[in-house]
Amino acid sequence: MKRDKYIEIAIASRNKGKIREIKSILSGKNIKRLTYLDFKSWPEIEESGSSYEENALKKAKIVANFTKKPTLAEDSGLEIDYLGGDPGVKSARYAGENSTDLENIKKVLNLMKNCPFEGRTARFRCVAVLYLPNGKFFMSQGKCEGKIDYSPHGESGFGYDPIFVPEGHSYTMAQIGIEEKNKISHRAKALKKIWRIVNIDIS
Ligand code: IMP
Repeated sequence: MKRDKYIEIAIASRNKGKIREIKSILSGKNIKRLTYLDFKSWPEIEESGSSYEENALKKAKIVANFTKKPTLAEDSGLEIDYLGGDPGVKSARYAGENSTDLENIKKVLNLMKNCPFEGRTARFRCVAVLYLPNGKFFMSQGKCEGKIDYSPHGESGFGYDPIFVPEGHSYTMAQIGIEEKNKISHRAKALKKIWRIVNIDIS
């Protein structure tokens, strides 16, 4: 079903890198994209769940109840085979509670210093949730396969982008830029799936 009017969707994140990408992925879709900057206050959310699904649903529900708007949340992480799937849901806090992206990257590279090229396989995973004020919600997933580089390269993106080389590419996520990243990323895939549902169900 086609919508003539735009709808408002709140983006349940305080991560500037994620917000930039989500806004760009949802551009040109008759969606007014609201963030925490559009509200006087914003709920504090502890990401205490043991799965992406649990965390994404928790964020979406809390923010939807607060904003009274359809709310989009996502939880994502990097899974490295050599590290048994770590950092996974702990990606944001891998080197400690308030760790920076650079500290997290350094920890990964240090743990992988003896890992040969073939063993450096990894993937970004994302679970997205669209939560409606009436309590109904939709969930989707996306992943992006790749390899962990030996050192950081590139300035664009956020998190582990400078050390992640997507499959079929010779440059890191931080080198290829947001436009290219949004064609192949875990986040873009999950959000595009949700969008197909939204187009039908919230018109
Ligand atoms: P959370 O979903 O708020 O728990 O944070 C996910 C964390 O996973 C981020 O802080 C990054 O460390 C990492 N991450 C998730 N998606 C990406 C991405 O697209 N690029 C780089 N790092 C990512």
